[in-house]
Amino acid sequence: MTKQAFVIGHPIKHSRSPLIHGYWIAQHQLDANYTAIDVAPAHLQDQVNRVRNGDYCGGNVTLPHKEAVFALADTVSDTAKAIGAANTLIWKADTKTLHAHNTDAYGFTANLDAQAPQWRSGKTALVLGAGGAARAIIHALVQADYMRVMIANRTRSKAEILADMAPHICSTIDWQQKDIMVGDADLIVNTTALGMQGQPALDISLDTAKPSLIVTDIVYVPLETGLLKQARAKRLLAVDGLGMLLHQAVPGFEAWFGVTPAVDDGLRSHIEADLFGHKE
Ligand code: ATR
Repeated sequence: MTKQAFVIGHPIKHSRSPLIHGYWIAQHQLDANYTAIDVAPAHLQDQVNRVRNGDYCGGNVTLPHKEAVFALADTVSDTAKAIGAANTLIWKADTKTLHAHNTDAYGFTANLDAQAPQWRSGKTALVLGAGGAARAIIHALVQADYMRVMIANRTRSKAEILADMAPHICSTIDWQQKDIMVGDADLIVNTTALGMQGQPALDISLDTAKPSLIVTDIVYVPLETGLLKQARAKRLLAVDGLGMLLHQAVPGFEAWFGVTPAVDDGLRSHIEADLFGHKE
């Protein structure tokens, strides 16, 4: 029987997940499919019921359902609990349990492990932004034994809420003060939408950066954001955001279809071709 998985959200048409999973399904010649379904909040329960009926082996969950699925799942992973949101549902047919998980922290970590493995010897991180993506990234930094995480956010009260995730290592700074902390950082992560196509630029100076600073962005349109351009111009290691998107898809695919897919150049070109209209 064809195995089916989905990504649900509202809206959903901009999701790249069908392209990523479709690529892997074709690569491994699986009898499987993965589809994007627009599910309004009022219909979330119906979609979960379809999983419980055995119609799906699970799927990805995006806005606005990332928190609501907690109440509908039987089990929630510690990672999803720590982040306060789930992005992956896994139906365990043998025990008839619906498991909610979050793979964003894994995606962040796996991308840096692949592109900048020395990030693990860093101790101090500067995180820009305090939205949902920042929560997953701070969780990943705690897991990677970072000793100090400074959070700069336009709305400082939101940074303070995030800092409570790991009060022993997190502190907050004013958005206007972020340049002053650049020189202390081993890793800088932009988790805001600034620098994304159609958004204002991220205004930060890397002039005081250590030569070993690693700079990464969750924005991937454009791939080379102003922040990453500035980092490369200063000969710093810069890691784009597309890798996190690709890596976060791995655990779900593995759980639904029983194959561990690779984040390889072919997958990257496939997604870049869609994003930027390149020829593969
Ligand atoms: P996500 O869940 O993808 O992280 P989000 O929750 O909307 O998205 O978070 C967006 C982040 O970008 C927030 O940290 C936001 O700052 P505020 O908490 O002050 O809203 C930040 N952001 C968005 N536009 C910004 C701007 N023009 N200047 C500074 N920060 C901005």
